[in-house]
Amino acid sequence: MNPRFGFLFLVLISVLLGADTKCPRTCDVALGSYFVWEGANLSFVSQMFLLSSPDIIVSYNRGRVPNRDSVNSGIRVNVPFSCDCIGDSFLGHTFQYQIKRGDTYDEIATKFYSGLTTVDMLQRFNTFNPLNLQENQILNVVVNCSCGDPDISRTYGLFVTYPIRSNDSWDKLRADTNVSLSLLQQYNQGVNFTPGNLVFIPGRDQSGNYPPLDISTGLAGGAIAGIIIGAVLGFLLVVGAIFIVIRKRKLKNSRLLVFSQELSSQDGRALAPGSLFDKSTESNGQGDGGIAAVTGITVDKSVEFSYEELAKATDNFSLANKIGEGGFGSVYYAELRGEKAAIKKMDMQATREFLAEIKVLTRVHHLNLVRLIGYCVENSLFLVYEYIENGNLSQHLRGTGRDPLPWPSRVQIALDSARGLEYIHEHTVPVYIHRDIKSANILIDKNFHGKVADFGLTKLTEVGNSSLPTRLVGTFGYMPPEYAQYGDVSPKIDVYAFGVVLYELISAKEAVVKTNKMSAINESKGLVALFEDVLNQPDAKENLYKLVDPRLEENYPLDSVFKMAQLAKACTHENPQLRPSMRSIVVALMTLSSATEDWDVGSFYENQALVNLMSGR
Ligand SMILES: Nc1ncnc2c1ncn2[C@@H]1O[C@H](COP(=O)(O)OP(=O)(O)OP(=O)(O)O)[C@@H](O)[C@H]1O
Ligand SMILES: *[C@@H]1O[C@H](CO)[C@@H](O)[C@H](O)[C@H]1NC(C)=O
Ligand SMILES: *[C@@H]1O[C@H](CO)[C@@H](O)[C@H](O)[C@H]1NC(C)=O
Ligand SMILES: *[C@@H]1O[C@H](CO)[C@@H](O)[C@H](O)[C@H]1NC(C)=O
Ligand SMILES: *[C@@H]1O[C@H](CO)[C@@H](O)[C@H](O)[C@H]1NC(C)=O
Repeated sequence: MNPRFGFLFLVLISVLLGADTKCPRTCDVALGSYFVWEGANLSFVSQMFLLSSPDIIVSYNRGRVPNRDSVNSGIRVNVPFSCDCIGDSFLGHTFQYQIKRGDTYDEIATKFYSGLTTVDMLQRFNTFNPLNLQENQILNVVVNCSCGDPDISRTYGLFVTYPIRSNDSWDKLRADTNVSLSLLQQYNQGVNFTPGNLVFIPGRDQSGNYPPLDISTGLAGGAIAGIIIGAVLGFLLVVGAIFIVIRKRKLKNSRLLVFSQELSSQDGRALAPGSLFDKSTESNGQGDGGIAAVTGITVDKSVEFSYEELAKATDNFSLANKIGEGGFGSVYYAELRGEKAAIKKMDMQATREFLAEIKVLTRVHHLNLVRLIGYCVENSLFLVYEYIENGNLSQHLRGTGRDPLPWPSRVQIALDSARGLEYIHEHTVPVYIHRDIKSANILIDKNFHGKVADFGLTKLTEVGNSSLPTRLVGTFGYMPPEYAQYGDVSPKIDVYAFGVVLYELISAKEAVVKTNKMSAINESKGLVALFEDVLNQPDAKENLYKLVDPRLEENYPLDSVFKMAQLAKACTHENPQLRPSMRSIVVALMTLSSATEDWDVGSFYENQALVNLMSGR
């Protein structure tokens, strides 16, 4: 497509998206009021909310909770999370919960998530059979939130999602918040005040104050409506401006979204400017046993292993234990402290900067990121990862001796990896860029969920000489033009590579069509060019079957495949600014996934995000 036309086209789409979204402005922080049940503790709560440390909760509950280890049951604590737009229609946040044996929707909603979500919501956002929940399935837990309302009052800008319990009353809330009854009721018009329902009440920030509403960061829905009514010509200009505002806001958001307070100065890393966490909250940020307990090995204080221990665990790094070989070194299977692990023996020594980096990486936890458990620096550099049972995506698509992945699994793996990437792009400080997304770096667990591996490793080649231009890291075939040609780095390079992975999921072809060894960059256009040839034709959908993995035979819904191809096309747009963010990709894939899982029952909620993202053919 002619780039100019492409720009106008995207501008139009973005306007439609803006006009269509029923969300008012989103915000970096909202709070959930969590009732601490008998036996609960802050480690558990921070696991449920995917926080990197219970100290984050402490910081929002000064006066009520002295420290992370002493919290009385029977009280409520406020837990922070970011308030996003769900499916373009309402404000909320999707948490991912890994189902354990014996869980029920009722217990997950009312106990583990303290009534912040409901059984209804769980049913709405998941397609599992509630009577037959399987261990380790990942459940979407959607919690509603509010960012305030400038039409009601600008005095309050931080809101608590407050599940009503049997002893609650408006009077009690008024007394607790010191906010007038009429204002509380204005914020909750039409809400039936009965146990099990939610109300939104103003909340205090980490310094104990009620922060006011900050309008400047928001883009009022009315503004967009006005623009649409306006004259078509002037309108394009204004939209251009809005585009910039949105981008600026996104940038700001991604810096503010913290949830990783432990990226503290003791690691030789300053917090990003504008961090929500003031220095006083950065207390004893030691290794964090609580969160580490989510999967596998629990690291108490230290994440450092001795060479002896690793050698023993891998049968002296025997060939029999070797499971892979990558650009940085060899990978070995290990049984370490009774758990399965993968040990990466790197072909290099660690610099001091990289050791600091490793300590940060061991604290980033997400279900869709392969977890770094620890390291060892004797003799060479070793990185210890959680072991992922089922090989990598490249092997599943092209390896011999494996069953073809059914289409719903491919959609699921796409969604899982998108979530992992979204997490490092938007929820860590400072923001990470993976830089080496490819099917060999997406590992598959025993339940056929995807996990992104190797994140943070590119730092290994860059820390220490930040004054020099960064060396190109990455794999041909997955590199966008702006990166291969000018070395421009932004999160959009991961989006591009992710688009190539989507094409791989559809076609099972390699990213690089090996034709001409001498010109790597031209070669690297392989899969993207192959698909664009078809997708740019008027009868794209009808011709797409030519590129679909033959091993799927007829067993795929063409509609779903076509949508994924369009998403991949948007991701691999030549202009990085026109590629969608990982956040909107997650939303698109979530809708695609729920439509796919019951594709003959008919999609049970409208695939709006996807339609908006890629509408038009
Ligand atoms: N945590 C793990 N659990 C199980 N297998 C793993 C794990 N980490 C790596 N592997 C296996 O080892 C292979 C090599 O991994 P590695 O990350 O070193 O190389 P790569 O991803 O192929 O290339 P590069 O180093 O350039 O990123 C992987 O593709 C995977 O099959
Ligand atoms: C925290 O609570 C969880 C869940 O009840 C429990 O398994 C864990 O042992 C508790 N941890 C501590 C340190 O008390
Ligand atoms: C959350 O908001 C959605 C959309 O407004 C609504 O349908 C849903 O019932 C709300 N959930 C709860 C638990 O109130
Ligand atoms: C709340 O109600 C329970 C009984 O339902 C009672 O035991 C408890 O004391 C009440 N708490 C408060 C703070 O009133
Ligand atoms: C409650 O608000 C009033 C003013 O609205 C103020 O004078 C008073 O100090 C507040 N009380 C508390 C406990 O914050």
